[in-house]
Amino acid sequence: MNAKSKTDDTVYIFDTTLRDGEQSPGCTMNVQEKLKLALQLAKLNVDAIEAGFPMSSQGDFDAVELIARNVYGPAIVGLCRTGFADIDRAWNAIKASERPRIHTFIATSPVHMKKKLEMTPRQVVKAAVEAVKRARGYCDEVEFSPEDASRSEFDFLAEVVEKVIAAGATHVNIPDTVGYAIPEEFGKLIGNLIKKVPNSGRAVFSVHCHNDLGLAVANSLAAIRNGARQVECTINGLGERAGNASLEEIVMAIYTRHDLMGVKTNIITQEIYRTSRMVSKITGFTVQPNKAIVGRNAFAHEAGIHQHGVLRDKRTYEIMDAETIGIATSSLVLGKHSGRHAFNDKLIELGYELDTAMLNKAFSRFKNLCDQKKEVTDDDIQSIIEDELTVVDETYRLQSVHVMCGGTAKATAMIEMLHQSELLEQAAIGVGPIDAVYQCIRQIAGVDIKLVDFSVKSVTGGMDALGEVTARISDESGKIFSGRGAELDIVLASAKAYVMAINKLLHWRKGIEAKPARRKAAAKG
Ligand code: KIV
Ligand code: ZN
Repeated sequence: MNAKSKTDDTVYIFDTTLRDGEQSPGCTMNVQEKLKLALQLAKLNVDAIEAGFPMSSQGDFDAVELIARNVYGPAIVGLCRTGFADIDRAWNAIKASERPRIHTFIATSPVHMKKKLEMTPRQVVKAAVEAVKRARGYCDEVEFSPEDASRSEFDFLAEVVEKVIAAGATHVNIPDTVGYAIPEEFGKLIGNLIKKVPNSGRAVFSVHCHNDLGLAVANSLAAIRNGARQVECTINGLGERAGNASLEEIVMAIYTRHDLMGVKTNIITQEIYRTSRMVSKITGFTVQPNKAIVGRNAFAHEAGIHQHGVLRDKRTYEIMDAETIGIATSSLVLGKHSGRHAFNDKLIELGYELDTAMLNKAFSRFKNLCDQKKEVTDDDIQSIIEDELTVVDETYRLQSVHVMCGGTAKATAMIEMLHQSELLEQAAIGVGPIDAVYQCIRQIAGVDIKLVDFSVKSVTGGMDALGEVTARISDESGKIFSGRGAELDIVLASAKAYVMAINKLLHWRKGIEAKPARRKAAAKG
């Protein structure tokens, strides 16, 4: 039995970046990217990974199945509604996992039951209980969520919770689906449920908070203080609308304020920063500089008085050590005299294990960078490695980029790309160098796409900094694909980012043609 009581001091971390996080508008990850992230989440030591919603699309099913087969340690969770076809599909996706968990949900608030489900409360109770029983027929870990719980009528919610526990639910997750709750109120809701539901001791109470009022983390912490022992959260707070509770903020609040919270998590905090960067690079969603814990400025001190204090004693203005979340502060800076051995040591220190072919490629890029940049920092190395590790089916490969611009002449670009060993070239004139380059690439690839977002940021300070470009594109389907490129030359980085995004789009189209989606799920949680 998995039951945990308020006195147990471990709070389980349930990561839903791959499911609720991926529901952020414009955030799509391909199957390989999802696997890469799931492997990193296992290194972070989360207790459960919600890998997707298998009924929602063939792509989701494939990703969940791949993760279930290849990721060990955390429970691998598949989300489903209460319909038996949904449950069976979720089970088929996760059954290869050593620790499968089915997560089934149905809404319990008056507005959802009446307007969305068009079901009576009695029908909802029946559907919930039958779903849990069916899921328990498949696996030992079954989680149930009464969607929109925070706007549900308390006695009805308590009845549903009691009945699903009696039916075999091992985890009961109370969602604040629309981010409506206020911490004190939400904490009380959890405390009262645990107190009033007679069999509450037989299940782990979990919470799942959305951030519409900016209170998702505060609500989650209030719930923990009232007995919740699992929190559902996402890296960088990704998620529907304003997002979900951010994993790194919850974990570090518990860690830093152990004196008050009195609980712990199993998270290996040194993996937090790396995971955050990985999510940002895969999704193309940059982390705002002042974001708590993982923002670029989270550990920076600007004001002279602060700097003075920190130099005397870090504790004057720092409540956490950057090292605790894995921001490397080692002084070993690599340069043009560093050999393969030192480079590999640095990669290991940064948490990368590359096979020989990948190491050779990364080392040659590192050497090129050293020819142009005196000191190569950890951030530079992480940036080029993430570039190399991004798995994309390369329908087109960029071979060369030439641009002429400036003064009164119109910007002109000339591009060469390789397609199935054929060298294709194109020239174009644009309003600026990047427009000209993008026109060439579009014409070669023959795609009708829109650039929906484009950003350039420097990886480090200094005039010789690497430029990291994220390009987000969409086609007529409205689906968004992002690509990234990191180069000293930002026009080249821009070209690489665009080609990567187009390759992802073409790969996705191939998948759609090869296996049509079974059916789109109508309502996502
Ligand atoms: O926000 C929500 O209610 C959900 C459920 C499916 C848990 O995502
Ligand atoms: Zn949600």
